[in-house]
Amino acid sequence: MTMSKDLFGKALLDYQNGNYSEDIITSTNISDEDELPLPYLFRNYSEMPKLEQAALKLAKGNVLDVGCGSGSHALWLQEQNIKVKAIDSSEGAVEVAMKRGVLNVELKPLLEETESFDTILLLMNGTGIFQELSEVANYLKHLKSLLNPDGQILIDSSDISYMYEDEDGGMWLDLNQGYPGELDYFLSYKGEKEVPMKWLYLDFKTLKTACLTVGLKCEKVMDGEHFDYLARIF
Ligand SMILES: C[S@@+](CC[C@H](N)C(=O)[O-])C[C@H]1O[C@@H](n2cnc3c(N)ncnc32)[C@H](O)[C@@H]1O
Repeated sequence: MTMSKDLFGKALLDYQNGNYSEDIITSTNISDEDELPLPYLFRNYSEMPKLEQAALKLAKGNVLDVGCGSGSHALWLQEQNIKVKAIDSSEGAVEVAMKRGVLNVELKPLLEETESFDTILLLMNGTGIFQELSEVANYLKHLKSLLNPDGQILIDSSDISYMYEDEDGGMWLDLNQGYPGELDYFLSYKGEKEVPMKWLYLDFKTLKTACLTVGLKCEKVMDGEHFDYLARIF
């Protein structure tokens, strides 16, 4: 696998250090360029989507924030005196989360985590970290192994089949191309291009089916405003 340039982390560091001049540009194999505003990655509780606020309110016990980014969710939990560990595979993200005051943060990909938790959070399309459909069971099994008895996983994602609709409402989805939520994700920042990544969106039904195959239950907590949802896995 080619090494990431950690442009995401660089952008977070720039923002944290007061060097904000440009946003991250993203695109996918099925969508054009879009801006990801850096301030959004530093959102406070009142700026978060309802789904994320609901997830934070449901978090209890010893919490793991997976793919913490700049640490926005972990910071809010800390303020509520909830014990939280934050992990991210991006060096820049971990440095920023530390600088912002997240007390327990480690540079670590999810599959290398070994402690156990009462709540595991994966937010801002948490299924993205699974990368592709064939990896979902593997990640879910690992997440299950990190759960204390009565523990829960709170994860958000979207049914992106609407992205395959043309203006007349017809679908151009090619069913031979595999699962529609498997995207190639391209990111650039300050004119530099990141190594292409895989990023997975899972519709609720597919997530639930995958959970059942590894002995986990999955319920929908709520729908979001744009084909997105929050799920609770236990
Ligand atoms: C879309 S960002 C979300 C950041 C943060 N949760 C938020 O809501 O602002 C996804 C984050 O997951 C991290 N990430 C991706 N794959 C990961 C993995 N396998 N283990 C841990 N973190 C990962 C990325 O570095 C990035 O910070």
